[in-house]
Amino acid sequence: MKEIALLPENLLRMPSVGLVNQWYERSFEEIIQFEQMEPDPPILSSFCERLVHIRNRHADVVQTMAQGVLELKESHEVDPSTENSIQYFLDRFYMSRISIRMLINQHTLLFGEQIGPRQASVTGIGSGGRHIGSIDPACDVAAVVRDAYENARFLCDRYYLASPELQLLQDGVPSQGPMPIVYVPSHLYHMLFELFKNSMRAVMETHESCPPPITVNLVRGQEDVSVKLSDRGGGIPRSVSDLLFKYMYSTAPQPSKSDAHTVPLAGYGYGLPISRLYARYFHGDLMLMSCEGYGTDAVIYLKALSNEANELLPVFNRTSTKFYRPVTQLADWSGSLNTSNSQCKNRDKVSPLSSPVSHSL
Ligand SMILES: Nc1ncnc2c1ncn2[C@@H]1O[C@H](COP(=O)(O)OP(=O)(O)OP(=O)(O)O)[C@@H](O)[C@H]1O
Ligand SMILES: [Mg+2]
Repeated sequence: MKEIALLPENLLRMPSVGLVNQWYERSFEEIIQFEQMEPDPPILSSFCERLVHIRNRHADVVQTMAQGVLELKESHEVDPSTENSIQYFLDRFYMSRISIRMLINQHTLLFGEQIGPRQASVTGIGSGGRHIGSIDPACDVAAVVRDAYENARFLCDRYYLASPELQLLQDGVPSQGPMPIVYVPSHLYHMLFELFKNSMRAVMETHESCPPPITVNLVRGQEDVSVKLSDRGGGIPRSVSDLLFKYMYSTAPQPSKSDAHTVPLAGYGYGLPISRLYARYFHGDLMLMSCEGYGTDAVIYLKALSNEANELLPVFNRTSTKFYRPVTQLADWSGSLNTSNSQCKNRDKVSPLSSPVSHSL
């Protein structure tokens, strides 16, 4: 909430941003009331109920905040410095939301009474009883890949009346058994579903008939479990590769408001940046490598050892505060600031979430 207050004035004045701010204020007030209470059974159960209430209140935070940014862009000219501050803020804001929801889910699943039907199906809870809250100590990466593929394929078939096949490999050869890791299945599912939707759209837009398959290769190393999706969807030009993880960057037409109840295959430009936050949340990562004219490889890196997969969280301090001060950026390389040297430019505003050096170099 302190960080929200540092956002540019004109963004704070947008109605949707005000609404999000109010939700946080109300939830904070509600939760703080429990601080001094005795942990008796009735209090604990009303705490659980409150948490469920708060989770529901915040269900639409991502869309509402996105709406706020759109409202700003439609009503004001947004300079690059403000744009960078917003990108920096959204990465941190959505990451802390992932973490808060993880805590709420853990608490309500472990201590609450009911498990919602959606939760149960996405996390696989109830299919073996091995879960600890939303964490599956033997989450089968191969099964989550198939699940995400099938659901993305369903959307793809509806839009294009056809879809690419899945070729699932482990260590480069056709997949045999499961690949278990300690993970939150719903997080892995989210990332894979987004990547499959992107790849399917690209493949279907470039191949009218006989769409080539999407290959997924699962590899377990000493440190990393890597999940590489390769498509032959024509790739992405290098000139836009910097924009892929920007909120609001999309080449898809914006889904119309009347479609609000249906899931679009693409359209808001949030798929990649949010998926990368999920990967980084447990110290993994998500990267894209493309050959324009051919196709794209997307790799999800997960920590192979669960004791290295700790939470990665934004910290509010003087350094983070600095990123909200407007700075005039002068070119320190020849050529245009907006295209080829924008990676150099981004290094001025490096954060563990927005632009890691390994990317920029
Ligand atoms: N595998 C791919 N092949 C070609 N282009 C891609 C691929 N993945 C992503 N892109 C490009 O990157 C853009 C951003 O992707 P992202 O998933 O963030 O948003 P989106 O798919 O447009 O909308 P949504 O928020 O619904 O995911 C896409 O619009 C597309 O132009
Ligand atoms: Mg997408």
